Amino acid sequence: MDHNNDKNAKKGQSMWGGRFGAGPSAIMQEINASIGFDKRLYAEDIAGSKAHASMLGTQGIISQDDVTAIHKGLDQVKAEIEAGEMVFDPALEDIHMHVESRLRELVGDAGARLHTGRSRNDQVATDFRLWVRERCDELDLGLKGLLSALVDQADKHAGSVMPGFTHLQTAQPVTLGHHLMAYHEMFARDRARLKDCRTRVNESPLGAAALAGTSFPIDRHMTADALGFDRPLANSLDAVSARDFALEFLSVLSISAVHLSRLADEIVLWATSAFKFLELSDGFSTGSSIMPQKRNPDAAELVRAKVGRITGSLNGLMMVMKGLPLAYSKDMQEDKEPVFQAVDDFVLCLAAMTGMIEDLKPRTDEMAKAAGLGFSTATDLADWLVRVLGLPFRDAHHVTGAVVKEAESRGLDLKDLPLDAMQAVEPRITDDIYSVLSVEASVTSRTSFGGTAPENVKAAVKAAREALK
Ligand code: ARG
Repeated sequence: MDHNNDKNAKKGQSMWGGRFGAGPSAIMQEINASIGFDKRLYAEDIAGSKAHASMLGTQGIISQDDVTAIHKGLDQVKAEIEAGEMVFDPALEDIHMHVESRLRELVGDAGARLHTGRSRNDQVATDFRLWVRERCDELDLGLKGLLSALVDQADKHAGSVMPGFTHLQTAQPVTLGHHLMAYHEMFARDRARLKDCRTRVNESPLGAAALAGTSFPIDRHMTADALGFDRPLANSLDAVSARDFALEFLSVLSISAVHLSRLADEIVLWATSAFKFLELSDGFSTGSSIMPQKRNPDAAELVRAKVGRITGSLNGLMMVMKGLPLAYSKDMQEDKEPVFQAVDDFVLCLAAMTGMIEDLKPRTDEMAKAAGLGFSTATDLADWLVRVLGLPFRDAHHVTGAVVKEAESRGLDLKDLPLDAMQAVEPRITDDIYSVLSVEASVTSRTSFGGTAPENVKAAVKAAREALK
């Protein structure tokens, strides 16, 4: 195989090939080209170029005629890309060179002046920040949709009793509404993290040029403003080499994907014939090709799994950035694919989870039945001994243990254990005890701030709806 002078290679060289004799080898071109994925940045690239051109014009660095020609040309390039007319060619390496090369074909010298006072290094960092900023806004809306779905279900099930677990062992009764609102809290924090991340994404690298700034009298504040950035990044070396905005963004997505996977796992678990807490909706389950009775929670399982790819993207980019000297290195071209992939996966997971929550069909009868198993109101019994008999909690705990043991040996639930059996353990127990042993009484009594009582859930739902407005 002839690695030299591939027939297209000369084309790309026209951008930087002044000092080169031969063109790059085909393998060089293959490893070097990023157009296969960074074409996704075309709109951001064109917006950045328009802002840069306008600034060059205002500063008298290029003529107003050139600015007009560049803007017109860039609009056409954009239209061509959107019409699918642009031929993407690895010889032109990346989206920046594709846009600029087509611009030069369209408007000649004016197009060739666009790259004054900038470099692909600040250009790509600018494009990428603009893209990530857009995604922050989009994902915020997506998370908001999931929150609404959770709140709607929590509202419906503010009083539906289910077992609460620790160690996946029945612990105390809770309400399904309370359980769902716990996820609401997690995803609401993810939104807050995303918002905070956006403030650090939203600073402009444009005009840092290759690494050191430029001798042209550019105005970085002007381009920052035009592109909706809060400010230009303060240090040109940092501006072209910082990727912590992308790492932070991936961290936020990773944490949120962990939350999605926990919720997904509960759906998988709850839909089993052992739990019977849920019926899977037709829309988000599949059948088995061999077992006709089966309904499988594939969507939930895949949401549970995709967290692997998303955190993998975070780890991958961490490793790309680790140990890189200042300023730009080509390693950093590897920043985009993990972010694109993580966003695509996350968007899909979010949509699937929102759909599953909207379609949620809890079997409240089974949940309530299960809530009473495992002596789940034992703590209520102990609390009664403290409140009514004035026992210290540790002693009450001991007495309750003995009562539970008696119930267990008789194969009875606490609420069905005869009074004399309880009085054999603690003679001062009266039949008032039965008022706290039902699961309904248990959840209704838990009115402490943040507790599971239905009235608390209703209040949390109301506050959440207010915040979602
Ligand atoms: N395609 C490159 C990237 O994504 C653009 C910057 C290239 N800069 C350079 N000096 N080779 O990072």
